[in-house]
Amino acid sequence: MFNKYKTEILKYSDESIDKVVKSLKNGEIAAFPTETVYGLGALIDKPKAIDNIFEAKERPQDNPLIVHISDLEWFYKLSKEKTRTAQILTDAFWPGPLTVIVPKSNIVSDKITANLKDVAIRFPSNKIAQNIIKAAQTPICAPSANKSGTPSPTTAQDVYNDLNGKIPYILDGGACEVGIESTVVKINENGVTVLRPGHITVEQLKEVCGEVNINKGVLNQPDKKEKAQSPGMKFKHYAPNAQITLVKGHGDKFVDYINENIECGDYVIILKETPKQYKIQTDNIICLGADEYSQEKNLFTVLRKLDELSVKKAYVQAPKTDGIGLALYNRLIRAAGFDVVDLSGE
Ligand code: TXA
Ligand code: MG
Repeated sequence: MFNKYKTEILKYSDESIDKVVKSLKNGEIAAFPTETVYGLGALIDKPKAIDNIFEAKERPQDNPLIVHISDLEWFYKLSKEKTRTAQILTDAFWPGPLTVIVPKSNIVSDKITANLKDVAIRFPSNKIAQNIIKAAQTPICAPSANKSGTPSPTTAQDVYNDLNGKIPYILDGGACEVGIESTVVKINENGVTVLRPGHITVEQLKEVCGEVNINKGVLNQPDKKEKAQSPGMKFKHYAPNAQITLVKGHGDKFVDYINENIECGDYVIILKETPKQYKIQTDNIICLGADEYSQEKNLFTVLRKLDELSVKKAYVQAPKTDGIGLALYNRLIRAAGFDVVDLSGE
């Protein structure tokens, strides 16, 4: 697609909110911060703008969008029925990085849900996102504001790098606090199923609603013959240009594997700094962060950094699959195109 706009990055202020909201009301699309990642939004009643989201991102048409709200009343207008489980989840985690999928009401267009009968809804905690939605007086449907397939954007500059010329405005609210996308859960007669893990962990969900299922696609390569529960899971995702190999294993096993396989120019991404790293025979080492919160915050920044450095190959140490680790693993396994080396012997 050729460039339609001279994309402007607007510093957050009352005036810039006004400018963005006017533009959205005129049927344009705009990028804005949330606590998870930047979103690329359109008002839910602007069908042409919704088409433009797909065009600007080069997003497959059958991948539905999340509807963002700024008060709970909208949740009940957008969903077909009121369920106890939905109420428990929204009471516990909203506003915040949880998206719930429920049967949709008639006011949600098929364009938003890619013809599915369910809609994904999220009430972000980020004040800038809330102010835009409130000022627009209409919910905003928005995917992450990256070019489809690349790591999600956590700064205005990341959005600019992917979508310069394709959108009029990017509202700059600084770096996103969480750094990975929301936890997505589906609520139906079978209970609660996690379709995409995130900052709100399975353990936290279990605390409030008892049993929680994890969709098979969260940790495994989707079966091509099976219909994906969450269409987004079947697409190539979060992938930098560098070829990523996810390495399961720690201690000497990890270090030995890297030293045997690493070639000049390759990078190693480890979870946190440990004395063992000094035995890795390269200086091209990046640590994700001291704890799981900084690891999630840095994950997409580090994946994008590999491209800035024109890295061709990177080995990434696999996180454990509990707590936020499950979300990190889910993003990394996709970034690696499911190329996993398992040294753990489990
Ligand atoms: O944190 C987030 O969720 C960010 C910010 C901007 O809110 N948004 C985001 O949107 O990550 P997106 O479009 O990049 O990812 C939404 C995921 C996709 O995997 C999509 O397939 C799934 O949610 N999804 C959306 N609506 C759905 C539906 N009705 N049924 C099943 N999956 C759905
Ligand atoms: Mg996305």
